Amino acid sequence: MPSVATAELVAAARLSGQGVAAFNVITLEHAEAITAAAERTGLPVVLQISENAVKFHGGRVEPVVAAAAAVARCASVPVSLHLDHVEDEELLRAGVAAGVSSVMFDASKLSYEDNVAATARITSWAHGQGVWVEAELGEVGGKDGAHAPGVRTDPAEAAAFTAATGVDALAVAVGSSHAMTERTASLDLELIGRLRDAVPVPLVLHGSSGVPDEVLRRAVGAGMVKVNIGTALNIAFTGAVREHLAADAAVVDPRRYLRPARDAMTEAAAHLLTVVAGKEA
Ligand code: G3H
Ligand code: ZN
Repeated sequence: MPSVATAELVAAARLSGQGVAAFNVITLEHAEAITAAAERTGLPVVLQISENAVKFHGGRVEPVVAAAAAVARCASVPVSLHLDHVEDEELLRAGVAAGVSSVMFDASKLSYEDNVAATARITSWAHGQGVWVEAELGEVGGKDGAHAPGVRTDPAEAAAFTAATGVDALAVAVGSSHAMTERTASLDLELIGRLRDAVPVPLVLHGSSGVPDEVLRRAVGAGMVKVNIGTALNIAFTGAVREHLAADAAVVDPRRYLRPARDAMTEAAAHLLTVVAGKEA
């Protein structure tokens, strides 16, 4: 099945009252594991590549997008490609040229007025390319001050921001925090409901690795549609590598430890896909 547009996956999830999981891709093994998990569960998935991941790959967006696109094209379930947390406009344009169907333009560190102006300009350009745009209002605590536990998005401001920018989806601050390694975050479910009622576009949850299963289910029930997950897979990957190296100090061939690492990511992604989709694991 060829890769599909993120817009389609998000619209379908929203219509059915489910969430769609979007996992961060760093290595080829991430893309393979996430896609294998989607195939195993029979659920669609978003492969998302962050600006930080592009920087890790030498600042070149094309090779990593091309690799993820090739994995997506070979999948038996719908898989879309998304650029995540992009602040660099040049990188955003290069990612679109490389073939992503959607972008998250992150101007959340700017003042409200500057965020609106920059996001509106990028959204207008992206829509001209047929590309779906997610943006963020305020910061969602955690790393770099974005997406922090105490930060909250105001529903009235979110509605005004969405109208002023024309974005297709909005990342909101409701209690989650990026890069948590323990699943102890509590979300403001009542606020999610108010944001869903106030904002005409689908809501996006960032920093979902720190959110317990049951809270993720309830967040989707309250109105979250796209659920972004990164750290959970890296915990699985690194744990498996660490375990293998501890047991086999003489190993040289990276396939010996990347295979269990990829398998561990597949297990973690399959579980989270079912949780976000509201299915039993
Ligand atoms: O945009 C990516 C996500 O917000 C990932 O956050 O690594 O805390 O799951 P996480
Ligand atoms: Zn994020």
